[in-house]
Amino acid sequence: MLVVGARPNFVKAAPLVPALSGRAVLHLVHTGQHYDEAMSRLFFDQLGLPRPDTNLEVGSAAHGAQTGLILERLEPVMMEWRPDAVVVVGDVNSTLAGALVAAKLNIPVAHVEAGLRSFDPTMPEEINRALTDRISRWLFVTESSGIENLRREGIAADRVHLVGNVMIDSLRRFLPAAEKTSALRELGLEASSGGARPFVLVTLHRPSNVDAMESLLPLVDALAEIARNAPVLFPAHPRTAERLEQFIMGRFFVQRWNERGTGLRLIPPFGYLEFLRLESCAAAVVTDSGGIQEETTALGVPCFTLRNSTERPITIEQGTNTLLGNDVGELVRGVREALAGRRKHGRVPELWDGHAAERITRQLLQDLES
Ligand code: UD1
Ligand code: UDP
Repeated sequence: MLVVGARPNFVKAAPLVPALSGRAVLHLVHTGQHYDEAMSRLFFDQLGLPRPDTNLEVGSAAHGAQTGLILERLEPVMMEWRPDAVVVVGDVNSTLAGALVAAKLNIPVAHVEAGLRSFDPTMPEEINRALTDRISRWLFVTESSGIENLRREGIAADRVHLVGNVMIDSLRRFLPAAEKTSALRELGLEASSGGARPFVLVTLHRPSNVDAMESLLPLVDALAEIARNAPVLFPAHPRTAERLEQFIMGRFFVQRWNERGTGLRLIPPFGYLEFLRLESCAAAVVTDSGGIQEETTALGVPCFTLRNSTERPITIEQGTNTLLGNDVGELVRGVREALAGRRKHGRVPELWDGHAAERITRQLLQDLES
């Protein structure tokens, strides 16, 4: 049984579904944590994911309530199907809830993207990561920091496997399809010589950046400043869109803002293929996403991360990522440099080669069959 619930989960599940269903009967559960067309169904369609066998339709709620509802609704499904293993991906509430239901039923859990630690206990994802790892039988790790973190936490080495990165499996598989989208043309970003005009791509959705006006407004001001030099595309996560409307603008103002042509374009989230196309052509990406730090490293695109810490240190040590905290001055300066062609170069980490899902499936089935 594979349990998914939120946008990044779908991208990580996409390579696992064909790999696992080639070797076993697969039951796909969608918890319903994300449910908007643009946050869920569009991803299933574009990523070629089958309709979920079960949709728990939990929707949005406070952390305890959302996690609790998944526990309550998932338990009878697992009791009925009795899978030999449950696979969870990433670090969202659906990840922890899926792992916890399985562990309580003595069904072994595989955690894909185990071992990552930001060491920031105020991040809800950090709690989800550490607890999921603690109750998992298999810990599939994307980068060597994860191996070290799990060793330090006393997790037996024979449960830990460095396998690479399923999110990069998807990136490699879907990049050709992304190149065929008309995203650049539709946004007026195609250069006459072919390729793209310089532009900046932004995503923000961490509570620490978007939930308080004092955090969000200086970031928007800095983005408006950057937009004086190049178009800035800001596809806003629903959480962020709600806050922007609440704090500054109202829907009407957002529309007027875009019409005024300030260069900072507040738009709805993109589908995976369109986003990947834009990400691969951007002069710089500004984000607080986990997955986008990895995708930009795989693509060799400079990434400025508006967080104080990252659970993905390899993207800084080997990749193109720069951690900025909330330093808007450094943000404006760094993006200006990138637009001028002076930027951080990196390399693609070991095993981020498009074959992580195969390695995971091989290990899982070998252990289950022995
Ligand atoms: C969740 C994850 C986060 C991940 C992010 C990826 C947790 C604790 N957080 O954050 O780790 O990086 O997903 O995108 O699991 N909403 C909608 N439509 C939707 C989904 C959400 O309008 O389809 C709005 C609701 O107002 C909701 C808010 O967004 O209350 C937050 O959604 P939630 O799933 O709780 O957290 P995310 O911020 O999406
Ligand atoms: N993404 C997308 N459209 C967008 C923004 C992001 O398809 O408008 C994709 C992105 O390419 C990556 C994933 O969503 O594959 C990252 O999810 P998100 O940033 O929501 O979550 P996180 O990685 O922070 O948990």
